[in-house]
Amino acid sequence: MLRTYLGRAASATRHQTTSFAQSTIKIRRDFSSSRVLAAVAPRADLNINGKKCSIPTGLFINGEFVASQSGSTMPVEDPSTGKELVRVQEGRSEDVDLAVKVARETFEEGSWSFSDPAHRGQLLNRLANILEANLEEITSIECADTGKTFRQASALDVPGSIGTLRYYGGWADKVLGLTSFNIPGAFAYTRREPVGVCGQIIPWNFPLLMFIWKIAPALATGNTVVIKSAEATPLSALKACEYIQQAGFPKGVVNLISGYGKTAGNAIANHMDVDKLAFTGSTTTGRAILKASSESNLKKVTLELGGKSPNIIFPDADLEKAVEWSAWGINMNFGQTCHAGTRIYVHEDVYDKFLEAYTKRMKSIQVGDPFDSTTDQGPQNSKMQYDKILGYIESGKQEGATVSLGGSAIEKPGGGYYIEPTIFTDCKPEMKIMREEIFGPVVAISKFSDEAEVIKHANDTHYGLAAAVHTKDYERAVRVTNALKAGTTWVNMYNFVHWSIPFGGYKESGLGRECGEAALENYTETKAVYLNMGIPAPRG
Ligand code: NAI
Ligand code: MG
Repeated sequence: MLRTYLGRAASATRHQTTSFAQSTIKIRRDFSSSRVLAAVAPRADLNINGKKCSIPTGLFINGEFVASQSGSTMPVEDPSTGKELVRVQEGRSEDVDLAVKVARETFEEGSWSFSDPAHRGQLLNRLANILEANLEEITSIECADTGKTFRQASALDVPGSIGTLRYYGGWADKVLGLTSFNIPGAFAYTRREPVGVCGQIIPWNFPLLMFIWKIAPALATGNTVVIKSAEATPLSALKACEYIQQAGFPKGVVNLISGYGKTAGNAIANHMDVDKLAFTGSTTTGRAILKASSESNLKKVTLELGGKSPNIIFPDADLEKAVEWSAWGINMNFGQTCHAGTRIYVHEDVYDKFLEAYTKRMKSIQVGDPFDSTTDQGPQNSKMQYDKILGYIESGKQEGATVSLGGSAIEKPGGGYYIEPTIFTDCKPEMKIMREEIFGPVVAISKFSDEAEVIKHANDTHYGLAAAVHTKDYERAVRVTNALKAGTTWVNMYNFVHWSIPFGGYKESGLGRECGEAALENYTETKAVYLNMGIPAPRG
């Protein structure tokens, strides 16, 4: 009892008075840097699934859609045909420099970064309202650019983006510091201050959701942002910036660069005036980002990288449900998901039964037009990804695994990057399909006989993003999830992620956590303030 009491007394208490707030909102001045912006970029009117969609194509800098300084543009492809949809402005290092300058001036000027945090929360909620009101439009744009099915994107990607905005909108005025009266002769408190200019680099598998996952906690805490979309999928972020204009965010708070990794991405990662960098993508690029930080200004880095996640079926599992969740484990975004359940381990007692039911379920997956409501799987995101997946399927065949289902590309009359849902069995731990991230609709199934053995196999990977256990025995569920080295674990489900719960990786799957309260740590610096209450200066 006494110990509990002392423990409480010794720890600092949360106190509202040390929150990061200034109540006056100043009128923002115009930026000198905005004068050097190039001409306003044209818009594009696209016909997507029979409806007209108007999309801005410029770089979004200082609240306007502008042309790139080099005048270069880049193609955006529809993966269901392989044809060009539209061209957008391609930003390079000089555009990144300008965006960072604008973001810096906006941050330092203070009317955003030191604004009433409740106002920032209201703006995030307003952006959520606009997404909600334009659900069909933004979903259509996302599906045309990525190949996602309309059904999946309208049930997951867009509602997930709206939920994330509302969640961080709620946090904005609840990020508080600590107070401590526990130091004899001194009083101390902490302030949670925004980090500053945040560079953010996102991938092509969840373009809108990753855009929102990145900007929402950064904006809630008063940072300004220079974000780069993936070259394969720039459209939904461009549209979202138009919604950001409509929501009334101050100019310069969000700046978006469409561009390539080696040019624009590299410029953000190496920039001397970017304070923090958040990245989602491949482990290889994650290493390059960390190196760029160490060789430039030691900007704080969070990384959300790849995975090779195990999905374990114990003999007492509800097999019907395990089959459904394991199918979703790979069907979500057609395997182009960092936490996809790509290594399935099935106990020998139920192996044959599971394999039969699972093969039947995977055979029922309808592959086709992303906008058809009966489609379960669209095209893979790009030619690069399509070739990569087919290369892995070929390596599995050559290394001696058995193709139990699929194993080939699907030719459609209209073209496109379609691949059959594929099951490999007779998989050995050393095979490439068991070790490397395929990022496609391909699973490798192995048999196991006891719990300790399967835990060892499950953890035998450089990755550590996610893992799942299917069992009715709750003691086993807790024991095994405790033993799995992964940032997210599931019991009797798969591929379920909520914006309020921390998400990130062990081992080479990343650094830090996104989502939940954890993400607020990434976007705030804690400043300690000591006030002397009578301590005399020591003498040396
Ligand atoms: P990537 O890691 O190269 O691309 C992700 C983002 O990083 C893009 O915006 C890209 O432009 C940018 N980028 C690339 N090189 C950069 C550099 N040197 N400096 C700064 N930014 C850079 O991934 P990629 O090539 O598109 O896909 C390759 C594989 O990576 C996929 O097959 C998949 O296995 C994995 N991947 C994992 C993702 C995840 O969610 N964890 C997302 C995307 C890819
Ligand atoms: Mg595309």
